[in-house]
Amino acid sequence: MIKRAILGAGILAAGMWGASSSASAESLTMYCGVDEVWCQQTARAFEEKTGITVDMTRKSAGEIYAQLRAEAANPKGDIWWGGTGDPHLQAAEEGLTEEYKSPLLDQLQPWAIKQAETSGHRTVGIYSGALGFGYNKDLLAKNNLPEPKCWADLTKPEYKGHIQVANPNSSGTAYNMLATIVQLFGEDKGFEYLKALHKNVNQYTKSGSAPIKAAGLGETTIGIVFIHDAVSQVVAGFPIVPVTPCEGTGYEIGSESIIKGARNMEAAKKFYDWALEADVQSTAQDAGSFQVPSNKAAKTSDKAPDLAAIKLIDYDFKKYGSSEERKRLLKKWDEEVASLPQ
Ligand code: F6P
Repeated sequence: MIKRAILGAGILAAGMWGASSSASAESLTMYCGVDEVWCQQTARAFEEKTGITVDMTRKSAGEIYAQLRAEAANPKGDIWWGGTGDPHLQAAEEGLTEEYKSPLLDQLQPWAIKQAETSGHRTVGIYSGALGFGYNKDLLAKNNLPEPKCWADLTKPEYKGHIQVANPNSSGTAYNMLATIVQLFGEDKGFEYLKALHKNVNQYTKSGSAPIKAAGLGETTIGIVFIHDAVSQVVAGFPIVPVTPCEGTGYEIGSESIIKGARNMEAAKKFYDWALEADVQSTAQDAGSFQVPSNKAAKTSDKAPDLAAIKLIDYDFKKYGSSEERKRLLKKWDEEVASLPQ
């Protein structure tokens, strides 16, 4: 958690933003859905820019969505920044987030604007990234395992106990994977696939990027994650090889939303607009995050996976971002997959 009042900067920023004379007393409660380092960097940069104190908590997308539902009668958060787009859409559908059209909307990529339109302007895309997996090349060699190239490879018996993935109830990454598999293979075959995969999974983690961090540390051989999270591990010096599955794959539109009934509504709107600025989005790579930014003028790292070169499915965000579909798929996964012995 960050709680810092930068008084000098606050007074300066109050003038810059035309804020009230008590700007240094302003605060913002931020639920952050990206990696901890990027969350910290963003919270601090906003504090420095505006003098608004940021109280930040990092959680996975499914957890933040659940928190918004639990706090609906008495909202405690102001801004939900980052995390996969599906739960942002589900929150929008349930009226848990505020309708707001940023003046920066026309600076964004079409997929980010489409996300806003799908939600009735209760959320907007801030980055995108494709799903895949990564493996620890040292462990793979040590265990005499072949290089996994396709989703189908991950269900082969030789990978038993070697695969880690997050739990789709808590993690936006894993929900995105569940929806991707169902769209790629059809629901019946998709669930057969998930049951076969379950036999090889050594742990379902809470957060989406945990499996590839574990692979980097040699605690699991393979981690199913967004490909940019595997790239982060490579850049950090770990022996990870990112893989784009041969059958094609799904992707996320990482989003931000203003929480309905936010106590600090003005600060939340300020943050929302600021986070869409090109210069702000260009700094993601400084935090070791390699998603594709939504502002067309933002710098995309040359390390970011090239989405145009990846076989992406036509992910149905409207359908898989609906509350009913989320509830149905998670219930089915809990009953038919997670409950099976391994
Ligand atoms: O910041 C890394 C990241 O993979 C984002 O791209 C994504 O939106 C988020 O984490 C998902 O996190 P989780 O699966 O824990 O909800």
